[in-house]
Amino acid sequence: MSTNINTPTGLPNIADLEKLANELFSALPNEFPKEISLSPNASEHPRATKIAETLLGAANLGGVNAVLPVNNHDTLPVKAGFAPSVSSVQTPPALGGFGASPSVKQYGKSPAFGGYSNAFSDPAIENISQLNDLDFNVNKGFASAPVAGNGASPSGIQNGNNVNIESPQTGFNDVNLNNSSSHQPIQLNQNYLPFEFEHTSFEAELKNALEALNTSFGIPSLVTTPNIIDTPNSYYFLNENPFGFDSKKANVAPVNHHEFQGFGGINFNAHVVKKDFPILRETVNGKPLIWFDNAATTQKPQSVIDRIAYFYEHENSNIHRAAHELAARASDAYEAAREKVKVFLNAKSVNEIVFVRGATEGINLVAQSWGDQNLVAGDEIVVSNLEHHANIVPWKRLADKKGLKLRVIPVDDSGQILLDEYAKLLNSKTKLVAFTQVSNALGTVTPAKQMVEMAHAVGAKVLLDGAQSVSHMKVDVQYLNADWLVFSGHKLFGPTGIGALYGKEDLLNETQPYQSGGNMIQDVTFEEIKYHKAPNRFEAGTGNIADAIGLGAAIDYVSKIGIEVIGQYEHYLLEYATNLLKQIPGVRLIGTAAHKASVLSFNLQGFTNDEVGQALNKEGVAVRTGHHCAQPILRRMGVETCVRPSLAFYNTTQDVDVFIETLWKLKSGKK
Ligand code: ALA
Repeated sequence: MSTNINTPTGLPNIADLEKLANELFSALPNEFPKEISLSPNASEHPRATKIAETLLGAANLGGVNAVLPVNNHDTLPVKAGFAPSVSSVQTPPALGGFGASPSVKQYGKSPAFGGYSNAFSDPAIENISQLNDLDFNVNKGFASAPVAGNGASPSGIQNGNNVNIESPQTGFNDVNLNNSSSHQPIQLNQNYLPFEFEHTSFEAELKNALEALNTSFGIPSLVTTPNIIDTPNSYYFLNENPFGFDSKKANVAPVNHHEFQGFGGINFNAHVVKKDFPILRETVNGKPLIWFDNAATTQKPQSVIDRIAYFYEHENSNIHRAAHELAARASDAYEAAREKVKVFLNAKSVNEIVFVRGATEGINLVAQSWGDQNLVAGDEIVVSNLEHHANIVPWKRLADKKGLKLRVIPVDDSGQILLDEYAKLLNSKTKLVAFTQVSNALGTVTPAKQMVEMAHAVGAKVLLDGAQSVSHMKVDVQYLNADWLVFSGHKLFGPTGIGALYGKEDLLNETQPYQSGGNMIQDVTFEEIKYHKAPNRFEAGTGNIADAIGLGAAIDYVSKIGIEVIGQYEHYLLEYATNLLKQIPGVRLIGTAAHKASVLSFNLQGFTNDEVGQALNKEGVAVRTGHHCAQPILRRMGVETCVRPSLAFYNTTQDVDVFIETLWKLKSGKK
């Protein structure tokens, strides 16, 4: 921390503190306030107030127990060095800050919303119920003031703040919604000493945030090399077992679990994260559910479930169409979700984000609007051999309809793109290259940025399929520079039926509409129709409003953990699982590229894929078996089908051990 914080009098200089806090917040994900005032007496953003009070408290009260006024109604004894802030209780930050704030809990019992600096790494928090109990008490305190805002315009669009359950997204001046500035007293539960709990959290979060600023780690906006494809080393298929046991000798999987220790002092505990996902408490055949079918769909954290329920309980309305309160809430929440997608992908503008049903609809949209408008007989479309059917069939249909040529980039035996062969396919007739960033069947991470550059060099446009990448790595559309990118919300811990198409703004505006109807028009007469610009241009009719907002909550959740932390933990887990899997006699790994994410497809000699899937299911392990909607690449690898476990950050080494042990038992004929 800067040493010039103190004035000659020894008191902190509020201007310096404000500058420091603004630097801090401006480096944090978008939902944090970008400009704040640190005046401890004003009803400013709670984090700002809290910083000011804490730092001032540390300077003024060091070493002495103090009693500070709370709320003009109450007093709270606090430990030395910390000053309580009633506003931090009355006006909770949108979906948590960098640490576990008890006020976050309006979103349900999901302490991970407070961020890993506390819930994930604090060894004292072994049981989530500690947080839940606390949160429950806070909720009770909120009973008389259910929707306190911070007094500012709650619109996520205008101030960049999150959708906040305490502050429904409305610009309406509703006393019931914007009541925080009145500093209404809250009923503190007798058992609840909020600041005692929050002190450690806040110190930790500030420290972590400052460390993150120094190390550029864990804050998406500070990551200078944003994509895993630039990492030169390979890390899978280690020659030696790094974990010090021999599964073959034991004939069963090890039970010696190794927790990921994280980076830069940030621990990540998948066991804690897992508790945010209620479905992972299910049992299947009497065994705890182990969800290894993440490439097909991911499970949803409580916060996403709660956010969707909240929408239907408090905000449900059609959007962009009416002058009433709920229309404003729904519209603001929907547009705030678009803003979250924009930040998540690092798009330049919200106008580049079109909500669609999912990756498949996004690809169909581009094929049927831009493709139909711009491609003529003789033009060539290049796809890779790795593609999922959704990135083959729309192009094949378009090619058949318009006399286009569909060309396919081959892969090597590991399942990686052959760049030399790709280069040979590119020429002046190439108008579009469409390929995946991560293969759903093999897990191959393609050299996307390089491939985009190669396509652009011949004047082709590029569509990147991010369906399997966005949940595993930082996907930065400005860095990758593809013309379009698609992804599905349900593979990103969000709801089904919602996803996004990113497209460069000018390109979207030059493109004819996909579907037509209400919401996408500026003016309609029977003689002439004027269309909106993107994104509305491509959002005809009533969209999936609630699930778009749910997707925003999923992005919040992922962002709180940090996509880089997720990626590195999953890298560790995939390495761990792959190393054990390949030691089982008769296992053939399908897809052994140096750069992989999440997926470890295989066949087990002597057993059909269904037999393997059923044996795993008996132990509660869910995997997909079959062709995974990617028949061409499986055939290229010499198989029709395979077993496909696919990992996510809530999976643990313990889960992997159950999976491995089951395969060993199957192999040895044990039931
Ligand atoms: N694309 C999904 C999968 O790979 C359906 O399973």
